[in-house]
Amino acid sequence: MLRVANTIRDQWTRDALGLAYPDYRDLQAWNAFRQASVYLARDYLATSITDELREFFSPMGPECLVIENLPVDPDLPPVPTDGKRPAAKQAVSEAVITGLVSPFAEMLAFVNEKNGSPIHEVAPIAGFEQTQSNAGRTAFAYYSDNAFLGRRYRQQGLLLFGLCNRNTATLLLSAEQIAAAAPRWLRAELALPAFRQACPQSFGSAGLVSEPGPILWRDGVGLMHVTAASSFIEPVDEQAGDALAEFRALCARLQPLRVVVTPGTALLFKDDRVLHGRDQVAGARWLQRTYFRESLDGLRAATHSPPHAFAFDARALNAVPGHSVPEFPVPDFRE
Ligand SMILES: [Fe+2]
Repeated sequence: MLRVANTIRDQWTRDALGLAYPDYRDLQAWNAFRQASVYLARDYLATSITDELREFFSPMGPECLVIENLPVDPDLPPVPTDGKRPAAKQAVSEAVITGLVSPFAEMLAFVNEKNGSPIHEVAPIAGFEQTQSNAGRTAFAYYSDNAFLGRRYRQQGLLLFGLCNRNTATLLLSAEQIAAAAPRWLRAELALPAFRQACPQSFGSAGLVSEPGPILWRDGVGLMHVTAASSFIEPVDEQAGDALAEFRALCARLQPLRVVVTPGTALLFKDDRVLHGRDQVAGARWLQRTYFRESLDGLRAATHSPPHAFAFDARALNAVPGHSVPEFPVPDFRE
């Protein structure tokens, strides 16, 4: 576990209080905030933590990373109940999130989700408590975010940052862990391009599904990957349907890594190498979330966006032909 020293945290907090949160739709203003946040993180992060971050963001690096005792806004407003960033909020946590991610990867957003904000408020929303979404309170079965997008355009990872959270755990189940527990026939079925992944409720629009793809597969350099939508996965035939049911049952039997993202804790994980879930939310809970990807150039090219754009239309990306072709050849486990 990595932990920032109290004295460093306090100095970082004081400096971050000097930053104003910009209108993120103004790319110039966002870039200025991003740069200032990167300078602060560079000044205050211990070399040992920076080294761990660099390792995490490398393709062969670990699946997840936890950093504790990071700066949090000293005067935090009440937890929002509408899913929106309170106007009166200071910009400390956003500066920390941006400073942790931005030196190593690009922050990514979708205009269809949370108005294209690069940082999302994750808190129960009144009226949505029973939904399987970041706005709900019910226990969240294991899933991947935005699985309906192909690997070329999806985020590669997520950062969750705690603002208010007493004891609701985030659960992580790794692809390696699932594969090790799966019988050979199941691994073979799940590696086939036989599953269409549907759009999550947080996008507020129904009807987006992926091309048929695998759920669990090993890539050309030996890393195991997993992708499973939260809302709905449509198997292409009965055989795939049986494999999907068995996969769900297997995941439910496994022991996940449990991380309580408490205030000042950042949990980073690779969204195509672990599934995540969440315990039921009992009390007040407010996290912030950002998606990241090594490069957004492919998304910019596909949507004819300007050089620094980071928010894209998921519908336009989903409509690009062949968008879900795997980046590595999918091995056949049937041999
Ligand atoms: Fe999620």
